Parts: sequence; structure tokens; C-alpha cells
Amino acid sequence: MTEQLHQITVTVNGVARRADAPARRLLADFLRMDLGLTGTHLGCEHGVCGACTVLMDGVPVRACLIFAVSADGHAITTVEGCCDSGGELGPVQQAFQECHGLQCGFCTPGFITTITAYLEENPKPTEEEAREAIGGNLCRCTGYQNIVAAVLRAAEILRERDADQAGAGGAA
Ligand code: FES
Ligand code: FES
Repeated sequence: MTEQLHQITVTVNGVARRADAPARRLLADFLRMDLGLTGTHLGCEHGVCGACTVLMDGVPVRACLIFAVSADGHAITTVEGCCDSGGELGPVQQAFQECHGLQCGFCTPGFITTITAYLEENPKPTEEEAREAIGGNLCRCTGYQNIVAAVLRAAEILRERDADQAGAGGAA
């Protein structure tokens, strides 16, 4: 018997996307297979490792625990959407590069999305808060030290960019 398909419309990284998928298609699989956004990684597929984390209406969710049909009508941000408007590295991505916050990179998309959302809420975290912020994401390579440094550096980059913008606004 052919599986019934449902039309799913989501805004992904600011762009309206539509595809048909079965009711039990996971959001992670929908993003990867139906929309071709393979930046979202699947590790444990049990909600434990955080590799699949995307933002749904700005809130981090595990894309391995949500059916794509549940995301219908919502705004999703994946790691591909965490770059700057010109396609350059976004603040968190830049911080990961500068601080060597990745090795194999498998866990990285989940960290980038998680930290992006976290810094919106807490733009000036302490080291301890930075450590807590990534407590739900697992990395088998780095030992976390450089990732914590990347959280703090990303916060700094965001503040620098804000200051630059304010300066540019004042000069205009
Ligand atoms: S793949 Fe979703 S939490 Fe591990
Ligand atoms: S960089 Fe390899 S799992 Fe995190």
C-alpha cells in the first residue's frame, strides 16, 4: 500500500519551502532528504546527543524527535541559516573557527544552532553559564574546552558587531 503523503510548508532560513512527506517523516529527515539541507546531522536519533538541533520559531528543538508535519507552518533555522546575510560566517560560526571549536565537525551544527539561540537570551554569559548552555550537546572529539571558548568569543563578536552598527548609525 502506498503511504499517504502530507503537504508540509515551512519557512526554512527565511525561505518558504514546501514538500510532501509521510506523517511519520522526522523533521531531521525532512530537512535532509526532502529539502536537501544536509547540515543538520543525525547522531543518536533518540534526543540525547543534540547533533540534530534546529530552531523552531527561534527555540532549539531536536529534529530527531519531531515529525515534519508538526513543523508545518513554523519557521525553522538550521545551521545553514546561521551565516550572515552575505553568506559569510555568522558570529557563532566565526567563533568556532577562531577558537578551534570543532574537530570532526559532526556535532557542530547542533552546537551552532543551540548557541545562536542561547546568546539571544543571554548575550554576556560567564564561562560557567557558557558551559551550562552547551550541556545538552555531546561532542566526542574536542573535550569541550574550545567550544566553551567559542561561546564566549561569539558573544564578544556579537557585541563588537552591535557596537560597529551603532557607530555606523551614529556616523550616518
Ligand atoms: S540525533 Fe537528535 S538528539 Fe541525537
Ligand atoms: S567535533 Fe567531532 S564530535 Fe564534536
